[in-house]
Amino acid sequence: MAKPVSRFVCQECGAVTSKWAGKCEACGAWNAILEEAARDEVPKGLSGSKPGRRIDFVGLEGSSAPLPRLTTGIAELDRVCGGGLVAGSCLLVGGDPGIGKSTLLLQAAGGLSAQTAIAYISGEEAVDQVRMRAARLGLAKAPVRLASATNLRDILSSLDAVDGPQAVVIDSIQTVYADTIEAAPGTVSQVRACAAELIRLAKRRGFILFLVGHVTKEGMIAGPRVLEHMVDTVLYFEGDRGHQFRILRAVKNRFGATDEIGVFEMTDRGLSEVANPSALFLAERRGNVSGSCVYAGMEGTRPMLVEIQALVAPSTLSSPRRAVVGWDSNRLSMVLAVLDARCGLALSGNDVYLNVAGGLRITEPAADLAVAAALVSSASDSPVPADMVVFGEIGLSGEVRAVAQGEARLKEAAKLGFAQALVPSSPRKGRGAAPAGGSLSIRAVGHLQDVLGLFQRA
Ligand code: TYD
Ligand code: MG
Repeated sequence: MAKPVSRFVCQECGAVTSKWAGKCEACGAWNAILEEAARDEVPKGLSGSKPGRRIDFVGLEGSSAPLPRLTTGIAELDRVCGGGLVAGSCLLVGGDPGIGKSTLLLQAAGGLSAQTAIAYISGEEAVDQVRMRAARLGLAKAPVRLASATNLRDILSSLDAVDGPQAVVIDSIQTVYADTIEAAPGTVSQVRACAAELIRLAKRRGFILFLVGHVTKEGMIAGPRVLEHMVDTVLYFEGDRGHQFRILRAVKNRFGATDEIGVFEMTDRGLSEVANPSALFLAERRGNVSGSCVYAGMEGTRPMLVEIQALVAPSTLSSPRRAVVGWDSNRLSMVLAVLDARCGLALSGNDVYLNVAGGLRITEPAADLAVAAALVSSASDSPVPADMVVFGEIGLSGEVRAVAQGEARLKEAAKLGFAQALVPSSPRKGRGAAPAGGSLSIRAVGHLQDVLGLFQRA
């Protein structure tokens, strides 16, 4: 009998090697390689042996009806999923511990239970704990089938029953284990094998499958990245635990747009939807203080206004501090360098703090101009007008570049009562000049130097 071969798998990236090493060659992670028993790979040398069945090719156009979608009753979640959940689809929900994944999915399960049979399988909490949570969420009466289980074999047999559910929540995939695999639950081979089996069953039976996945310190869904390839939709639930806002972000979606986000607020009765996030993010803003600027951003198809705060203070340190919350620190360094080299505003002797108020994370380069305005405003101690919104990308020569969806940003600003907008003047390819502002008065700037001119102290 052949000796069982073992192999070494990086628990961070899933790379396989034949020898143990302290550092993974593929992703550079230290101490992440573990020995695992090799599983059966695809048999080699298929070609030439018994021929396979011929597959039928079809045209791209077909008469299949649009995929029916189930709605959870949580509008923010449905929108992030592309307008509801498609039967047979698998969704991976990632996020830091304690951010609210179990709460969100229990609420979604409650909403779905009104329309279809749904099972909630928790490997993390005992039945009583989930019941307590359900009572707190006002869902104790919802017909959700609840179980606490971790053995894959048991879970598969229960779901594959005649009266099996149409939607299933597995909380979390890291707690599920297959007894055919030696590795501990949560390791790459366990997570991958369990997810693959569950997904196969979901596709075969056509039920909706939610998998909860933990996130590592580095912000990856723990264990294999391969999990992200296996599922149809990857949602990240993020937010700052110090704030009550939670953002649900689709990073992959086979059934809808990705960059869509849903905004929630964590209350003592669970997550409540935030239909008008701009108003919420601006709620605590104090007008007419220097260093504060309202950025008109876009999150997916949704415009969102947020306050960007900067503090520029004299530093006593030899290398002054640069602290950023909610934005990319490399991008801040770039804006500071452009201010220095192209506009003569040197802040190298100052500590610089930048904060996106409310706990939102901004990834768009379109926030450059708003950041620059907040920095200049703080450095010169003259406020950005309280009724002004700002957006625009900054290039390395200091030019202010046009950004997408200018009209939508301005419309949101007008809706929330803003009166002025600081926008790029450069025309966009195939479009007119600076966006027409409707009721807003538009100040178009072509270079960062023009922004400095706005903040000269009288
Ligand atoms: P949970 O859903 O357990 O997080 P995860 O599954 O992502 O680990 O959320 C836990 C946190 O949410 C916990 O700190 C308590 C808080 N919470 C509320 O504030 N209100 C609520 O109604 C519930 C159910 C939880
Ligand atoms: Mg949980």
